[in-house]
Parts: sequence; C-alpha cells; structure tokens
Amino acid sequence: SRTVATSARDGRYAPLEQRDIEVFTEVLGTQNVIRDSQALEACNRDWMGKYVGQSQVVLRPSSTKQLSKVMAHCHGRRLAVVPQAGNTGLAGGSVPVFDEVILQTGGMDQIHSFDEVSGALQCQSGCILGKLNEHIAEAGYTMPLDLGPKDECQIGGNVSTNAGGLKLIRYGSLHGSVLGLEVVLADGTILDTMTPLRKDNTGYDVKQLFIGAEGTLGIISGVSLLCPPRPAAVNLMFLAVQDWPSALQTFVRAKRKLGEILSAFEFLDSSALDLTLHQLPHIKNPLPQQQAPFYLLVETSGSNGDHDYAKLKAFFEAEKRDGLILDGTVASDKDHIAEIWRLRENISVALNKAGKTYKYDMSLPVAEMYGLVEDVRERLQQYPVNVVGYGHLGDSNIHLNVSTETWNDDVLHDLEPYVYEWVSERRGSISAEHGLGQMKSQYIGYTKGPEAINMMQSLKQLLDPNGILNPYKVLPAEPKFLTAT
Ligand code: FAD
Ligand code: MLT
Ligand code: ZN
Repeated sequence: SRTVATSARDGRYAPLEQRDIEVFTEVLGTQNVIRDSQALEACNRDWMGKYVGQSQVVLRPSSTKQLSKVMAHCHGRRLAVVPQAGNTGLAGGSVPVFDEVILQTGGMDQIHSFDEVSGALQCQSGCILGKLNEHIAEAGYTMPLDLGPKDECQIGGNVSTNAGGLKLIRYGSLHGSVLGLEVVLADGTILDTMTPLRKDNTGYDVKQLFIGAEGTLGIISGVSLLCPPRPAAVNLMFLAVQDWPSALQTFVRAKRKLGEILSAFEFLDSSALDLTLHQLPHIKNPLPQQQAPFYLLVETSGSNGDHDYAKLKAFFEAEKRDGLILDGTVASDKDHIAEIWRLRENISVALNKAGKTYKYDMSLPVAEMYGLVEDVRERLQQYPVNVVGYGHLGDSNIHLNVSTETWNDDVLHDLEPYVYEWVSERRGSISAEHGLGQMKSQYIGYTKGPEAINMMQSLKQLLDPNGILNPYKVLPAEPKFLTAT
C-alpha cells in the first residue's frame, strides 16, 4: 500500500558477492563493513517506516580516499549504491529499494577549519548539523539552516536534499550558502571545489549540480559553507489567528514592521496542534486558553535585545488591538523560546507516533496554499483520517499530512495523483524541500517540463554512466505529466 516507483530490480546491477566483501574489507577494515542483521535492518528502513530495502551490507568509510576506492570498485562491478547520512529524509531517498550497497557517511565527521573573520566552515560531509552549530557558536557564528532533526542529520545529507528548514526566510537556500564541495563521483574520481571563497566566476558553478541531487550524481565528501553571525538577541511570538487571510495579513505586517529582524515565520493549524499535544504530552500548549484555527510562530533575531523586544511587543499589541491577532504570547527567555519551537519541530514526530502518514511538501502561491488542506479534508471525509497542515508560511511552503492508523490503499488512491494535480494546476512544486526520493520521482513531470527532465537525464548519464548511484530515485524511467504529451 505504499507508493513504490519501481516494482522490478534493474538487471543491469550485479548482485553482491563474497569477492566484493573482501575488497571492501581490505579498504575499510572489518569493523566498517557491517553485515550484522540487526544493524542492517535499521539501515534498510526509512524514518517514516514507509520504505524497507534488502541491502546485505553497510559500508562506513572515514576518508575521501577510502570512499573513492569503494566507488571505483562498485563502478567497475556495477554494484548499485545508496548514500546514507542521518537517514532522516522524508522521501525514501536514503534507503535501498532492493539490494543496493548502503554507503554511510557518518564516519567522515572531521571539521577541517573555521575562519572566524569570513565565517567560512570546511568539514567532512558526515558532520552532524547540531554539532557544527555548537562548534562555531564559540566563535559567535551560527549554521545557515536549522531543522528538527539537527542532532541526527548530517551536513552532507542537508546539502544533498537542499534542506530548507525553519530559518530559510532569513538565511536563504543552501544554493547560496554552500561555497564549495568535495564530491566522489560514481567511478571514484574526486571532484574538488572546496573553496572558501565567496566570489568565483570561473566558468560553470558545477557544485550547484550536487546540491539537492539526493545522491544520484555523486557522493559529497566535503562541504565548505558560509556561516552567518550568531544573533545576540532572539525573541519569539506564538500567535493565534482566526482564519487564513489573517495569517497572510500578519505575515505582510510582520515583514513591513519587523523586516530586518524577522528570522522565521511558521504556521500550524489546530489539527496539527491537537495531534501533537495528544501524542506528545510532555509538550506544552503555549496558549492553553485559546482555541483558534491557525497558530503562527514569528521569530526575530537581531543585535539589540531591548530594541528587538520593544519592536516585537509594539507589533503584537498593535495587531491585537486591530483584531488581526486573537491572542498570543511573546517569549524572550531562552527556555520559553525553546519550548515553543519544540512544539513546531515535533509535529512530524507526533505524526509518526500516531500511525502512518501520507506526507506532502509543496510550494504554492501562499494565498491558495491552505485550500489544498481544506480540499483534501473534504475529499477524505469518509475515512477515519486526520488531515493536518503546517509549514513554512514565510517561504510559501506547506506540509499536508494525512495521518491514518495503517496504510490504506483507498486513501492513497484518493490522494494521488489528486494532490499532485492540484499543485501542478497552480504551477506549484510537488516537492518544496524534501526532494523526490523514491516517493515522488514518478511525478517529477508535474513540476518540471520534458526539456528540463531530458537535461537532467543527460547529466545523470554523463556523471554516472553505469547508473549505480541511488537508482530508482529522482529520475523515473518514464515520467508522468499532468496532460499526456
Ligand atoms: P539522509 O536522510 O540520510 O539522506 C537524504 C538524501 O541525501 C538521500 O537521497 C541520500 O541518498 C542522500 N545523501 C545523504 N548523504 C549524502 C552525501 N554525502 N552525498 C550524496 N548524497 C547523500 N527537511 C527540510 O528541508 N526542512 C525541514 O524543516 C525538515 N524537518 C524535518 C523534521 C523531521 C522530524 C524529520 C525526520 C525530517 C525533516 N526534514 C526536513 C527532512 C530531512 O531531515 C532533511 O532532508 C535532511 O536534510 C536529511 O539529512 P540526513 O543527513 O538525514 O540525510
Ligand atoms: C517540517 O517542516 O516540520 C519538516 O519539513 C518535516 C515535515 O514536513 O514533516
Ligand atoms: Zn518543512
């Protein structure tokens, strides 16, 4: 009952043999060639418990050289490979579809350098996002992205999915923050673009190809990243509003009145709030007296605490007086701020606990965005499902999640391709930030045209002629389009 892009293993790929294990052991040492069935089971399963592969081996290189040797062998033998970082991806990209070799990057976790003047960080791709953030905090800097699983996901996984997260409105996409990459190509060639330079217009910017490629074009082994200064003062509002137009108007006014210090603008609907509080009782409701259809998290980050707080408070009071905001709380204390963020960051954790989730992640014109949740709620009325909406309102990115007790083919049939059609008709993106993985690859044509897909296929052929890198993901053999061509 799950969405599977491919039903048959591609016969081009060789099955794993004992002689492969011998080569891997020689390069990596026995302890980094994992064959234990319990460990294999965990690495074969994705975070949502939706996709389960049957890989027989997990490899853990600790250096680019080792990684390169492993890839050269896999290329020569036509062994398919799936790169795996923190395995928190939400599109089934990080686990094998069949018996692909799992190549974990977690052993590559060295920080090479940090430039305290420019903010340029250079590290191996297996560094955990939260650990990098702690490392550079000492020097007064912060990572240019933040997301719920910061203590599990790795910077290489973030770059490979072009992760958006909670601060994109402030720091922009990784296409802007990544200064350089080191990438091991399918045949083991090491492509070194690890520059710490901000500006470099010498020819094509090839590193951009690997940002968001979900491991289909090369394995990122090193990352050079520009980190912004850590804001001295952070404040957070949790607001209740009566309808979607009020949420939009609050965003417009926040940009106008708080523009230069605005660092996050997130929303959740009452279904998302109720589900999270029900599943995770340790999480507190920031507004226990209030029942509203929509809640907003509006964060500011600046250099002057008193000044920012006064601005935020004035905004809150004015909009409350005007009736735009029903109610709210303004947090400036670190623990209170963290407590409110915990609620937002744990919505998908709560969904996982509630059962199974049909998960969608779209970019849509912000005014129409929530209409999708309403339509789907209406469409699925006959089923015992919980339809919840939340996401990055400030980036025009909505997460529609349909929570069910167990996978249900009838529900799936009513959701797909309906949801993708809805998005395509409005020229939205069927994947704003999670990628296509194996979940959405067959629907790429609902957002990208045939010419763009052809170009992607040519690039794939050029960089990975044997097709061994993360097969069955991102690019389908036969993409579907909204209108048959
Ligand atoms: P993985 O899941 O291990 O891998 C992701 C993809 O990248 C796979 O296709 C994998 O093959 C490939 N890959 C991994 N490492 C490499 C490498 N070194 N070289 C080449 N390919 C590689 N995402 C957002 O964008 N915004 C959010 O707000 C957000 N919130 C989340 C909240 C929760 C609770 C969870 C579980 C996930 C969330 N995600 C979010 C999705 C996910 O965390 C991100 O996509 C994250 O960037 C994945 O990192 P990872 O290290 O876990 O990578
Ligand atoms: C989020 O914004 O919480 C993440 O992208 C995870 C999700 O969509 O569930
Ligand atoms: Zn998100």
